[in-house]
Amino acid sequence: MLSQQTIDVIKSTVPVLEVHGEAITRHFYQTMFTAHPELLNIFNHANQKQGRQQAALANMVYTAAMHIDNLGAILPAVRQVAHKHRSLGIVPEQYRIVGTYLLQAIKDVLGDAATEEILTAWGDAYQVIADAFIGIEQDMYSEAANQTGGWDGFRLFQVAKKVQESEVITSFYLLPEDGKSISSYQPGQYISIRMQVPGQQFTQIRQYTLSDAPGKPYYRISVKRESGAPDRPDGVISNYLHDHITEGSLVELSAPAGDFTLDMEDQRPIVLVSGGVGLTPMISMLNALTESGDQRPVTFLHASPNGQAHAFRDHVNRLAQEHTHLMVHFCYTAPSDADLQNEFVYRQGYMDAAWLRQVIQEPDANYYLCGSAAFMRSVYAELLSIGAASDRIHYEFFGPKASLSPAAENV
Ligand SMILES: Cc1cc2nc3c(=O)[nH]c(=O)nc-3n(C[C@H](O)[C@H](O)[C@H](O)COP(=O)(O)OP(=O)(O)OC[C@H]3O[C@@H](n4cnc5c(N)ncnc54)[C@H](O)[C@@H]3O)c2cc1C
Ligand code: HEM
Repeated sequence: MLSQQTIDVIKSTVPVLEVHGEAITRHFYQTMFTAHPELLNIFNHANQKQGRQQAALANMVYTAAMHIDNLGAILPAVRQVAHKHRSLGIVPEQYRIVGTYLLQAIKDVLGDAATEEILTAWGDAYQVIADAFIGIEQDMYSEAANQTGGWDGFRLFQVAKKVQESEVITSFYLLPEDGKSISSYQPGQYISIRMQVPGQQFTQIRQYTLSDAPGKPYYRISVKRESGAPDRPDGVISNYLHDHITEGSLVELSAPAGDFTLDMEDQRPIVLVSGGVGLTPMISMLNALTESGDQRPVTFLHASPNGQAHAFRDHVNRLAQEHTHLMVHFCYTAPSDADLQNEFVYRQGYMDAAWLRQVIQEPDANYYLCGSAAFMRSVYAELLSIGAASDRIHYEFFGPKASLSPAAENV
């Protein structure tokens, strides 16, 4: 238990640390990676270079510190991170390393302002926060390992089938190399894949959402090739998967994780909204709903640049023909000549409030949203404006979680 005095010191210094937040975490990562280069095997280097991970960790530590006397109030946020940590294989010993370098960074950046009292209070508070994460992650590790077909850490899978779904998205069907069963999962969950790419010094870990309904003997992931813009390098793992991972290749996977899952209890209609490769969780959810015979109204909205980039179009259209309670609408921002000649129906343009109002029959629904950060911010605001309740808009970032509020555009 922290003393009231420690709690007061923490709460009064959070604003000071927030001012220096990114400087502290940047310094923290630099010193930690210098002393423990082995940790570069688990951190995403692209996120580091773009400062995305720094922002995520800093925000989480300050949020936790503000709620230090009632961490239960931020339990959903802690669980979301714990899912990610569990899929990465983070262990308690690493919390000690993070704590040491975080505290050192606070001391180095604040200089004389970091009194002994402040440093002791933050050391104690970090321990409380770390213990909360470690406890939750321990339960998650046990659950993942002890369920039927479950496992601990990473397990070898073989690519049984590779299917091109569009010009930019390819699916990989993965079977466990040991031939044993695999754990089930909830639609919307992801696995982490760990790879050693030739020419790269460190192993790389990335998350990919399982794109089919659970209950199959395989896991399927559907990966978009991340081609770098002129001033950016090509994505390391997505390109390696597309170009070098073939049927028969072996890859290492964590057990499924994640809290972006379909709420099967609530009987409201369901609206699945995706942009680009953000459709992978929606396909898993849609398949699970249609395969289970669920009769709730489902609206499937998908935005893509054009028909060539658009994955699973025929599949979704076929489901819409078979299930009268499923409504499907597509939006193309840059239809190709082939699209313009096609009799296939899509809206040309963006998902704006006027159009969403037309296609969503019952706004009192559960919404599931996934796509680029810019897409989600825009659609989130439009959904609120048509009367969607914010606590029923569930969303997933394909990177460190960030805010969807307009003020957070640069995060
Ligand atoms: C929960 C979750 C689920 C996901 N599900 C899916 C899914 O179903 N399908 C899918 O395709 N993806 C999914 N992703 C995204 C996926 O994990 C990867 O992030 C994605 O494939 C890119 O990985 P990469 O190794 O190809 O790119 P990286 O090498 O990690 O690069 C990522 C981006 O950063 C840019 N970049 C790299 N270095 C720099 C630099 N120095 N400066 C500026 N920019 C730089 C690259 O150009 C690229 O655009 C998911 C992510 C999460 C967190
Ligand atoms: C109390 C301590 C910690 C806090 C508050 C914290 C917070 C976070 C947050 C907020 C994220 C982003 C989650 C998301 O994707 O939305 C994250 C991801 C991550 N964390 Fe932690 N973390 C802590 C400890 C650790 C430790 C001990 C390690 C291991 C050394 C670790 C390694 C990672 C990695 C590798 C990622 C993913 C990075 C990426 O994909 O860029 N974290 N953490």
